[in-house]
Amino acid sequence: MTTKAIMEDVRSAQFATEIFQGLTATPKYLPAKYFYDTAGDEIFQEIMNCEEYYLSACELEIFRKQTAGLAAAIMQPGSPFDLIELGAGDCKKSAYLLRYLVRTGGSFTYIPIDISSNIINYIQTQLPLKIAGLNVRGLNGEYLPMISEAAKVSGKRKVVLFLGSNLGNLAPAEARAFCRKLRCHLRPGDLVLIGLDLKKCPDIILAAYNDKTGITKRFNLNLLKRINRELNGDFDIGQFHHFPVYDPPSGACKSYLISLADQQVTLWCNGDVQHIRFVRNEEIFMEISQKYTIDQVDRLAGESSFRTVQRFYDDRGWFVDALWSAV
Ligand code: AVI
Repeated sequence: MTTKAIMEDVRSAQFATEIFQGLTATPKYLPAKYFYDTAGDEIFQEIMNCEEYYLSACELEIFRKQTAGLAAAIMQPGSPFDLIELGAGDCKKSAYLLRYLVRTGGSFTYIPIDISSNIINYIQTQLPLKIAGLNVRGLNGEYLPMISEAAKVSGKRKVVLFLGSNLGNLAPAEARAFCRKLRCHLRPGDLVLIGLDLKKCPDIILAAYNDKTGITKRFNLNLLKRINRELNGDFDIGQFHHFPVYDPPSGACKSYLISLADQQVTLWCNGDVQHIRFVRNEEIFMEISQKYTIDQVDRLAGESSFRTVQRFYDDRGWFVDALWSAV
């Protein structure tokens, strides 16, 4: 068996275990990291292009209009660096910065990290064709283990891009723990450019997770389809309702799938058949998308041994890319 095949087996077993854990917990949940199979990646692209999902457009505007400012903030004369991107996705935003850095003679290796092997393959093969002279070394896996791999690539200073409000998919306490762990892989003076969605009119936020054409609903239901395919499950997709909520005081936007009937779902978990019961109106918690105030962003930096050195906003002030320096 090849190392790749062994890794695949480990990932499949972990998928089965974590899905089973979530569906047998009280209340039930599913880990949002599993949204991103091939179909999930495609649906997420649709979300990013849909009218209501403002997050990507805001951050893209920052990267498009403030490229020189971003580059100046991370470049240090005569100091080559590794530019690590967590959750690189389609690189649409970072491509502005990468192109600018290459054009102005920045000396760096681009290290995209993504949970999706499709995405890493795509970036490694396609991005150097679009940005001639770009040095790419993709890493496929979860953020923290891959950050530790990235740290071994060279002894150069690190600049980490953590864009797209991806940190928002962790609850605040988990986000703090994550930032602290991230800090442990960095040295004083290393930089993190973190993109976070800011608190704003609740209607705007809720609409972003409840688009009228139902793309976000498909995104959530796709995980049930993935379970059917990979764990030989029999979820009846039509028996679940997509239900997002936004809570202004806490800034938590959460999505749920609600069971429309008393029902039983069968799936296979690592060789054993399992039956999961749902009562009518029972929820599965799918995802949190946390929204922050600027004070909360600064506090998060301080609590994880970073300090904010610069902030970049879109024109409407809906989204921030905060530059943190490790202290
Ligand atoms: C990837 N992440 C930042 C998205 C978000 O806004 O929480 C995922 C998403 N879920 C539904 N729409 C978008």
